Amino acid sequence: MNIIITGASKGIGFEVARKCAALGDNNIIAIARTEERLKNLKSACIRENIQAHLYPVVFDLEKLDSYESLIKEIKNHFNEVDVLINNAGLLINKPFEKLSSSDISRMIQLNLSAPVHLIQSIIPLMKKPCHVVNISSMGGFQGSQKFPGLAIYSAAKAGLASLTECLAEEYKGSGLSFNCLAIGATDTEMLREAFPGYDAPFNASDIAEFIADFALNKYKFFNGKIIPVTVSTP
Ligand SMILES: NC(=O)c1ccc[n+]([C@@H]2O[C@H](COP(=O)([O-])OP(=O)(O)OC[C@H]3O[C@@H](n4cnc5c(N)ncnc54)[C@H](OP(=O)(O)O)[C@@H]3O)[C@@H](O)[C@H]2O)c1
Repeated sequence: MNIIITGASKGIGFEVARKCAALGDNNIIAIARTEERLKNLKSACIRENIQAHLYPVVFDLEKLDSYESLIKEIKNHFNEVDVLINNAGLLINKPFEKLSSSDISRMIQLNLSAPVHLIQSIIPLMKKPCHVVNISSMGGFQGSQKFPGLAIYSAAKAGLASLTECLAEEYKGSGLSFNCLAIGATDTEMLREAFPGYDAPFNASDIAEFIADFALNKYKFFNGKIIPVTVSTP
């Protein structure tokens, strides 16, 4: 399968890319800003599977005006895409009134506008069937417990969930499936920085195993679904 994963240089995305690379004959484009970390990912994948095909692509997904160059780079590796995992995310934990306009626009750009632009740009390359998996958060899941300091992050993630439902309807019957995983607290740099000392119930490797299996194998069973991936009740 040809798989694109955003935010693959660390945390959950890094582990999802590793799982995908370890399985069978997959080709993976791994997108993030930090070249060194993407090189480490590639080395880790090759150590685990000598035949792994992973192509690091260094790109800042907040640069919404530069997606043409990203798509050009993607086309250098893939003629078709089977799976797109929109995983890159940004959480700035601050009281609502303390958020700068840059904080607000960056969180909306990366968590919501970037998946919009990427999906729009990649649709012409999507093979049928193709599965788009958007990684949201329990914070953006309707009716879940909410946290002070996470208003914009959670609102952007709720937007991503709604986008998923709308695209599933718009592309119904076309062979493209859109699903959203609203994941719970997972031990990564993002969580450690936002909530120092918080003891997360999931580690990145375990949650990545679920995400990789869902993205690669479950497109036949779900479309337009927002699935809470958590052990607590919303
Ligand atoms: N950890 C949790 O508890 C939790 C809970 C619910 C949902 N989530 C969601 O799960 C996803 C992964 O989170 P994580 O915890 O693994 O976060 P993380 O450890 O902070 O990793 C974020 C990834 O996104 C990339 N990224 C950040 N800004 C980017 C940009 N402008 N352009 C391209 N790539 C960028 C980072 O790479 P570079 O810095 O190299 O660019 C990194 O690879 C996010 O969408 C997050 O919102 C996480």
